[in-house]
Amino acid sequence: MPAELLCIGEKCRARFPIDAVLYNCPECGSLLEAAYPGMLLDAAKLKSTWRMRRMSNLQLDQSGVWRYREIIPFLEHYDSVVTLREGDTPLLSGPAAARYGGLDDLVFKHQGFNPTGSFKDNGMTCGVAQAVRLRMKRVACVSTGNTSASMAAYASAAGLAPLIFIPHGNISYGKLAQALEYGAKTFQVEANFDQILALVRTLAERLGIYLLNSINPFRIEGQKTIMVELMDQRDWHPPEWIVLPGGNLGNTSAFGKALREMKAAGLIQKMPRLAVIQAEGSAPFYELFRASERSSLTKVDHPETLATAIKIGDPVSWPKALHEVTTSNGVVEKVSEQEIADAKAVIGRCGIGCEPASAATLAGIRKLTASGVMRKDADVVAVLTGNVLKDPDYIYRYHTGALEDPSGTRIAANFGNQPIVVPNDAAKIEALL
Ligand code: F0G
Repeated sequence: MPAELLCIGEKCRARFPIDAVLYNCPECGSLLEAAYPGMLLDAAKLKSTWRMRRMSNLQLDQSGVWRYREIIPFLEHYDSVVTLREGDTPLLSGPAAARYGGLDDLVFKHQGFNPTGSFKDNGMTCGVAQAVRLRMKRVACVSTGNTSASMAAYASAAGLAPLIFIPHGNISYGKLAQALEYGAKTFQVEANFDQILALVRTLAERLGIYLLNSINPFRIEGQKTIMVELMDQRDWHPPEWIVLPGGNLGNTSAFGKALREMKAAGLIQKMPRLAVIQAEGSAPFYELFRASERSSLTKVDHPETLATAIKIGDPVSWPKALHEVTTSNGVVEKVSEQEIADAKAVIGRCGIGCEPASAATLAGIRKLTASGVMRKDADVVAVLTGNVLKDPDYIYRYHTGALEDPSGTRIAANFGNQPIVVPNDAAKIEALL
C-alpha cells in the first residue's frame, strides 16, 4: 500500500511522495499529513495480532508505537527504527481527582511513563525513523522542553546530531537538563516559542537540517498510537470524552486522526469527544473555537502561563486541530493558573502526579462538569502528558506558598504540603505527630 504526503487544504489536496522533505504544501502553504490511499485494515485480525505482540520479545513489538505499525505504515521496512520502548503507558484511576473534577470516575492515561517522561516519545520514534530513512545527519526542533528532551534522546540513540532551540529562561530545568544529558547542541534563544519556530524553519531550509517539530507529519503518526493503545487497553470500548491539554495542537491533531481512522477501519464503533484545555494566558485556540468566524486564528503575541509546556501563542497545527475537535463534536475550555496548580496537587495526592500542563485536564474537567457540558457519570479519560519530575521547582513553590502567577499574584497553596524543619530530637518530633 503506497503512503504519501497529502495537503490538508480542502481546495488543494496536492499529493507528494512520502520521502519528500516537506512540512507545508509547496502549492498552497497548508499543513501536510501522511495518507494511505486504499488502506484496508482487517479490524478483527489486527486486534488479535496487536494483543499477541504484547507477549513478544521483539523490539518492535515491545514498543507501544511500533506494535501498532499497520496503522502508521509510512515506512517500507523497519531498519531505520530506533525504539527506547516508548508507549505502553498505564491507565490509572484517580478517585480523589474524579471527585474534585465533579465526576463519578476518572481514568488517566499517563504519558509521563514514557522513556523521556512525556508523550513526545510516541511521535519522536517515528520522526527519527523518517530522518534516518531520508539519510539526514542533523535534526532540529524548537521546544517548550519536552520535544527537545525527546528529540535529543532519540536522535542520539540513532546516531544523529540533535540541535535544540529553546526560549531562554522559559523552560523547566528538568527538561533542559535532559537535553544536555542526551548530548544535544542546545541554543537558548532570546525569543518566545513562536518566534523561534520561524527562525528554526529558516535555518532548517538553509542548512538542510530535518525539522522535528509537530508540523512534521511523521511525529503526528506516532502520537496516533496513544489513542490506539488506549482503545486496545479498553478492549476497544471508546470513552465518551478524551481530555487533553492544548499547546501547539499536534496532539489534538494526532488523536483526532487516529480516532477517525480507527472508526473507518471498524476498530471502534463510535467517536469519543475531544476536550482540549488551554491555559488562560495562552488560549488562542479557545478564542478561535468560540468565534463565529473560524477561518483564521488570532495569535497571542505574549503568551503567559506557568505551565510552560503549553506557553504557545501561535499554534501551528490549529487547522488540523480545529477539524478534529469539530468532527468529534468536541469542546475547548480554558483554565486559570490557580485552577491548574490546585488540580495538579490533587492529581499528586492520588499518588499519580504530573507536570503543570497535564493538570490543565483535570482543571478543565472541573469546569466542564460545573457548566453541565460533561455529565457527572460520563466515561472520561484524561491524558497526562508529562511526568511529575519535569518541573520540581513549580511543585516546591506551590507547596511552600511561594508560587506566583506571571502577573506576580501569589497562587494560594490550597492543597499545600509544607516540609517541616525539626531538630534531631525524637520527643519533639513525636509531639509534632
Ligand atoms: N503537555 C505537555 C507536557 C507538553 O510538553 C506539550 C507540548 C503539550 C501538553 C501540548 O501539546 O503542543 O501537541 O498541543 N509541548 C511542546 C514541546 C510544544 O515543545 O515540548 P501540543
